[in-house]
Amino acid sequence: MQSSGEDRHRETLRDSQIPLKMLLKESPLLPGYQVIKLEGDAVFRWRARFSNWVSIKLEDYDHPDFTKNQVELTKKLHSCWEWKEIIEDNAEQLKGFTQIKDIIYQKEPYLRIARTDHPEDNIGIHRDTHYGATENEWVVWVPLTDSISGGELRILPCSHREPEEAYPWTQSNDPAVEKGSEKHWLGFRYAPKKMSKEVEDSCVRVPCFFGEAILFNCACVHGQIVNKAPWTRFSVDIRIADKNSDIQRNRGLHGDIYVEL
Ligand SMILES: [Fe+2]
Repeated sequence: MQSSGEDRHRETLRDSQIPLKMLLKESPLLPGYQVIKLEGDAVFRWRARFSNWVSIKLEDYDHPDFTKNQVELTKKLHSCWEWKEIIEDNAEQLKGFTQIKDIIYQKEPYLRIARTDHPEDNIGIHRDTHYGATENEWVVWVPLTDSISGGELRILPCSHREPEEAYPWTQSNDPAVEKGSEKHWLGFRYAPKKMSKEVEDSCVRVPCFFGEAILFNCACVHGQIVNKAPWTRFSVDIRIADKNSDIQRNRGLHGDIYVEL
């Protein structure tokens, strides 16, 4: 019988007690994800930069023209390069967990902003491989606010090992997201592929504090349906891959999504 998400999370906790050296050597993201402590200070400068841009504590952020302002903030994000520093400063541990040799990283990462009790701020539970990514790609998910207390990213442990048939989906158009629109550019899906409620419910919460990141394989089922933490969550997700791996680099509105480190 297939183990539940909770069982697999317990296995994950057990796995996480394996000494880092062994994980680095043997590999690999046994459950498909790992919380890592970020080296370097780029993430602290990054948060300060965002706080300046919004002129308010990130946790208290809201805006009357929310989507338009998220676009503006994303453009500002793309004009600074702290995320490159984060990848550089953490290259060794990222390579160790993923077995990537030559890192390429996403040149225009996605900024996600999720207010409390606003399901429309989230893209729901999904699998990146349903949208063109491969199991040769990983996400470095960097929260700029604590991602705890109901605001966690949720992941289905070990789901990266399952074939596509294991997670059937149904697709329908989302009337709130037009193809080529601002929301589409921000990373929302105009025709989302929805998996079963059972799969959604099997995903476990993965707490992650500011200063940490979650590294997960693109084939992992993951996401968030609604932020239940009593503060707004800011996060940036940065794809990484090996320069020589078999991936599709040109995608949708963002062209070739990768640059070399
Ligand atoms: Fe995703």
